[in-house]
Amino acid sequence: MLMQQILGRTHYFIDLENIFGAHNYHPMPVVLAKGEGVFVWDVEGKRYYDFLSAYSAVNQGHCHPKIIQALIEQAQELTLTSRAFYNNVLGVYEQYITNLLGYNKVLPMNTGVEGGETAIKLARKWAYTVKHVPENQAKVVFVEGNFWGRTLAAISSSTDPSSYSGFGPYMPGYVIIPYNDLAALEKALQDPHVAAFMVEPIQGEAGVVVPDKGYLRGAFDLCRKNNVLFIADEVQTGLARTGKMMCCDHEEVIPDILILGKALSGGVLPVSAVLCNDEIMLCLKPGEHGSTYGGNPLACKVAMAALQVLVDENLAENAEKLGHILRTELSAIKSKIIKDIRGMGLLNAIEIDCGEDAPMAWNFCLKLKQNGLLAKPTHGNKIRFAPPLVITEEQLYECIDIIRKTLKEFEATL
Ligand SMILES: Cc1ncc(COP(=O)(O)O)c(C=O)c1O
Repeated sequence: MLMQQILGRTHYFIDLENIFGAHNYHPMPVVLAKGEGVFVWDVEGKRYYDFLSAYSAVNQGHCHPKIIQALIEQAQELTLTSRAFYNNVLGVYEQYITNLLGYNKVLPMNTGVEGGETAIKLARKWAYTVKHVPENQAKVVFVEGNFWGRTLAAISSSTDPSSYSGFGPYMPGYVIIPYNDLAALEKALQDPHVAAFMVEPIQGEAGVVVPDKGYLRGAFDLCRKNNVLFIADEVQTGLARTGKMMCCDHEEVIPDILILGKALSGGVLPVSAVLCNDEIMLCLKPGEHGSTYGGNPLACKVAMAALQVLVDENLAENAEKLGHILRTELSAIKSKIIKDIRGMGLLNAIEIDCGEDAPMAWNFCLKLKQNGLLAKPTHGNKIRFAPPLVITEEQLYECIDIIRKTLKEFEATL
């Protein structure tokens, strides 16, 4: 659409979604029409800093020219063959990503939740064929507060009623223990039927919950000791977001199964991947798992470009450095309403001290929007601050000024 055709039509587009779309989301009232790097523009022509990055899918910045170039070039050649036939891009991508991330093999899927499903299927198959767990008795251990998507298998592990209520019956074979609790994990792993422990290195959706230092290492060691697979869901934390290529790298943990999604395409297409070594991956035989679009040449080219941008532009280093600045500067702000500031790299959150006033975080985000910065609360009072990793120091300081000014204005209204 031409700019003249959309200007002033915020309500029109919101109404269209309300009338013709399912009401399964509650978006901020802003209608975006363009993105470039750290910025997005709404249909009124107003520019914002994007502090959500599509839940860390846009680590490389909106419409990164190298990723878009890869998309366009491949789209003109071949987009989809299905896995009924070989194509001339998939193997090249598989070699590229496994070399880059240090695994024998990759299984390409589309969405993050499919990555999670794939990992659990792999773990179950491994449990029956390698660990010799009796048939249909394999268990997977999850932690409270986990989030890995919206399928029935995913919500079956959820402890958030808004995720699981009204959708039962649930997937059997799950055990749920407290997060950040190695003693609870040790106890759960005594059960010889446990195939895997699946965990987010930092819980994103729960509000950027960072476990104690040593938790991941300790959990990994317990898994090793008990012949249980350690599955890292790095869909949100991986790919440079937390200041290292993988969040598990902070504790030198190499997961048995690694799940990636979101930024694997830099926000261009749904692309996910599950990586592991042969002993696990080769438990799957032809016909036992797959997806029509998984491994399509368009996605493969886009993913290679997206990964190369992370490497070439040193985005992990940038996330590490700017994350420190962000947390230090936010901590220095004297505010009555900020209860906590936490995070790693550029995956951060502030927690608003709402008291009885639950919509306060939402209203604060509306004020941030007015001042040119987009963020959204999760679980009531937690606001994620996760800009694209291409943000510069100068831009970050401008954002900190916006946040400081907004807090001052907001607190004056309380
Ligand atoms: C840690 C984690 N895993 C999995 C998913 C699911 O990804 P998708 O929405 O692409 O299915 C998400 C989505 O937010 C996530 O944060």
